[in-house]
Amino acid sequence: MTNTDACTYVIFGATGNLARLKLIPGFYHLDLENKLPEGTRIVAVGRRPWDTADWLAEVKTMLNEKEGANLDPEVFARFSARLDYHRGQLNELSCYETLTDTLQDQRFSKNMAFYLAISPDDFGTTVELLSQVSLFNEEYGWRRVIIEKPIGYDLDSAKALQKSLERYLTEQQIYRIDHYLGKGMVQNVLVFRFANVMLEPLWNRNYIDHIQITHAEDMGIGSRAEYYNSAGALRDMLQSHLLQLLTLVAMEPPVSMDSEALRDEKVKVLKSIRPIPKSAVHAQAFRGQYAKGTISGQKVKSYLEEDNIPVGSTTETFAAMKVLIDNWRWRGVPFYLRTGKRMAAGQSSIAICFRHPPLQFFRDTHVSCMNPNWVLMGIQPEECIRMEMTVKESGLEMRTRTTSLDASFRHPNERKVDAYEDLLLDVMKGDRSLFLRFDEVEYAWRIVDPILQTWAMEREYIATYPAGTWGPSESQRLFEKEGQFWRNSLMPECST
Ligand code: BG6
Repeated sequence: MTNTDACTYVIFGATGNLARLKLIPGFYHLDLENKLPEGTRIVAVGRRPWDTADWLAEVKTMLNEKEGANLDPEVFARFSARLDYHRGQLNELSCYETLTDTLQDQRFSKNMAFYLAISPDDFGTTVELLSQVSLFNEEYGWRRVIIEKPIGYDLDSAKALQKSLERYLTEQQIYRIDHYLGKGMVQNVLVFRFANVMLEPLWNRNYIDHIQITHAEDMGIGSRAEYYNSAGALRDMLQSHLLQLLTLVAMEPPVSMDSEALRDEKVKVLKSIRPIPKSAVHAQAFRGQYAKGTISGQKVKSYLEEDNIPVGSTTETFAAMKVLIDNWRWRGVPFYLRTGKRMAAGQSSIAICFRHPPLQFFRDTHVSCMNPNWVLMGIQPEECIRMEMTVKESGLEMRTRTTSLDASFRHPNERKVDAYEDLLLDVMKGDRSLFLRFDEVEYAWRIVDPILQTWAMEREYIATYPAGTWGPSESQRLFEKEGQFWRNSLMPECST
């Protein structure tokens, strides 16, 4: 059991996808691991005409879908005893008034977290109505609000949303989730960098040639056409998750794990990124859209053939960008970021390519070229850290091969923890280090805004790539030098 105080979690949008796939299973696992403090309760707010018994039946279905035979009946019984259902319409004051009455009951802790698993268009109204019924008053316990991306759809709208939130909430009460930061391997980036003394002297422009950050999915857009077609890959993944990964790879060592110290360093990275003028957008960014193709032997539709996609849409499902960080550590080292749907594999990784060693030593041997060292961090599905080194091939001749040193993150018998479990617990602990401060969101928008504006003007044409490939081959043109190429595999790609 943790030392965390009990709390009441109120989930708005509890019958939606996020709750079904992530939040409810996340809470269940925390209960299974004895991490939920005594007295913690979870109130689901939804429109459906249900009572708590109906909600329990629904939760059982959700968990059965996720856990199958692993659902532990004893834990489920304990977990169900924590659940309540509150029926109401999000935009009606009466929903909040009756909620306040319910929450007066002694069984509910006065520490309250409000999770807005709802459309971002409703954030403003919900926060305003919660405030009207004084649910943000911290006289008897803390009150926190959790929101998810998209936090705005560009710089101006993000600022407008922030203004509407700060009328009712202090920055300390707002928890902006980027679920990527809850992933075990993403947190391991910091441990790997700051707990291993041999890396720090190498982690800079003197030794590193370039860095790549990839999030590839083999899935399409599923049933999210409406959201996705207005967002596109740059907003959906790059502005948020991939720029966050970049900050962790590039930041200076913070003085401590304290949330402000950590976030100060992340913001410094974002502020040091060289702004991309509109005239440089084509040189530094590339977009594409999936055409039909084949994935795992199955024929799949093109983006334009997906349900509810407007005819002729030029929304990008692939986005790549070159970022330059103008500071002492990184000047001259390009960071290449890319993301795409319907790619050849579902894989997220960070690949760090070191400079080439001089070849002088090997003159007059069979070694005519050598692979550079790479540090590869697999975030998902494989969680791994590998370092590629050059060694001698056995035999009489002087030949070399690339070998890979493996620093496993998780032993095979250790459970994979979902990102949301960690984040749900951090809200209860009041630990904001893995949540975004508004200036991080703001500076991330500043970086991508010129690209979004340029692409919004160019609606005539978009490059395509067959589903099941690594994206449009033309995106290779972002690379600065010959010999730089997108790294798709976490295994040694060739030997010399
Ligand atoms: C979400 C995006 O934020 O992250 C989705 O909206 C994307 O489009 C998802 O599929 C990827 O997250 P994960 O954890 O499944 O890799």
